[in-house]
Amino acid sequence: MRKVFLLLSVMTVGMVLSACQLGINRSDNAITVFSERHYEADRALYDLFEERTGIQVNLVRDGADPLLTRLENEGEDTIADVLVIADAGGLVRAKDRGLLQTMDSPFLEDTVPEHLRDADNYWVGLTKRARVIVYHPDRVHESELSTYEALAEEEWSGRVVTRQASNIYNQSLMAALIEAIGDEQAYQFAQGLVSNFAESPSGNDRAQASKVLQGTADVAIMNTYYFGIMLNSGEDWQIEAANTLAIFFPNQETTGTHINASAIGVTKHAPNPEAAQAFIEFLLSEEAQSYITNNTYEYPINPNVELPALLQSWGNFKEMQINIEALGKYNNRAKEIMDQVGWDN
Ligand SMILES: [Fe+2]
Repeated sequence: MRKVFLLLSVMTVGMVLSACQLGINRSDNAITVFSERHYEADRALYDLFEERTGIQVNLVRDGADPLLTRLENEGEDTIADVLVIADAGGLVRAKDRGLLQTMDSPFLEDTVPEHLRDADNYWVGLTKRARVIVYHPDRVHESELSTYEALAEEEWSGRVVTRQASNIYNQSLMAALIEAIGDEQAYQFAQGLVSNFAESPSGNDRAQASKVLQGTADVAIMNTYYFGIMLNSGEDWQIEAANTLAIFFPNQETTGTHINASAIGVTKHAPNPEAAQAFIEFLLSEEAQSYITNNTYEYPINPNVELPALLQSWGNFKEMQINIEALGKYNNRAKEIMDQVGWDN
């Protein structure tokens, strides 16, 4: 009996060893990424990580809410190791719902600025986005622009466009303003802004650029990286919009320009948390961050990366320094305010 037991033990140990040596233990050699992002540049980097490490990267793409719900439903049986959400607020929600685990990475702590990562190491920013004022130089002089809040003043009546209240970028802008200037001021901004809308909000950020180009409005609130996407779209109107319209970074004398971030973390029940963290460290490396900014025109999180010429041409600017955790914390309040002031969904 004892002999059989011993034999079994030796066999088990032997099998585990050989599995590792041969690199056929699935959990050691594959990770699954649940991602809301839809960039070819992301997949190209996943391929590079595969090539370098031999760890296969499976990608599941869906919206933020379906991904969080799936993680919740799968619980301990989830196949997901890594969660990537286009807006940091999504990672805050994932943390609150117990869907993430902490990372222990001196590299990430050194590399990612403090306001762009979770204080308890549940997630870090992956890319930065600046939400700015875009204007038509024929109808607006730069000197007329100053802050987001100023767009709520009467002189902008019928001249402003931006997306619907259901859009997470605008929800996050509102959440950031609640944190930076207080609930009351943020409410007043929303109220004045909505009363200055040129038309009922519709379309994505690029549609707002089109409205300013065509004269429906004089200014739009939108993310900068769409200028890079439009320039490289191969479509005449988009190239014209990017070459004609100008970017203004608001709140330079006050709070700084609102920054959002795509963010990334290791799932609570990741089958392969070590590989997941190595993957995240790779994505925050100078090499990967440089590749991202050159291909998606977002800003790098890693401060050691040189900006591409296009992003440099937009100019340097002061960022809002609030912790982006606020985007999750005030998401509900932001939606409530937008609803109260009649910002169409
Ligand atoms: Fe976007």
